[in-house]
Amino acid sequence: FGAGYSWAVLYSTEERDPDHMNVDVYAQQFAWNFTYPEQGKFSRGELHVPVDRQVVFRLHGLDVIHSFWVPEWRIKKDNVPGITTTAIVTPDKPGTYQLICTELCGFGHASMRAEVVVEPPAEFRKWVAGLQETIPQAYLETIRQDTESDPQPVGAGGA
Ligand code: CUA
Repeated sequence: FGAGYSWAVLYSTEERDPDHMNVDVYAQQFAWNFTYPEQGKFSRGELHVPVDRQVVFRLHGLDVIHSFWVPEWRIKKDNVPGITTTAIVTPDKPGTYQLICTELCGFGHASMRAEVVVEPPAEFRKWVAGLQETIPQAYLETIRQDTESDPQPVGAGGA
């Protein structure tokens, strides 16, 4: 990656920032959906995060294996049915990015993407407060049933 990007990708050996934010990421054929547990909100197909705050993504697979990849974040991590995997990122550059599925998951794989918006905290708070849907029960159930057998975040950073 060239100049202009200075994404910090944190590894399992590092402490989680006590001020981190949790986002649950659900992959299914062929869509990405997101829940914000602290706010109780649900977003279909669009991920927003505040800039300069550590985000702990808890990844879930609802049918087959998918893979969470935001190229600029240099992190790639599988969403696996039945377990919760984790990716930790501190996005430090506002902008609009693409979340891309990198695991062949069926006929819609190539189009399995979501928009990612990194924005100032005030804008993020306004966006999340404006979400109409609360977290669907089925998604909460998925989290309860998952085994967190792979809690280690693995970044592809340093490339
Ligand atoms: Cu989901 Cu490829």
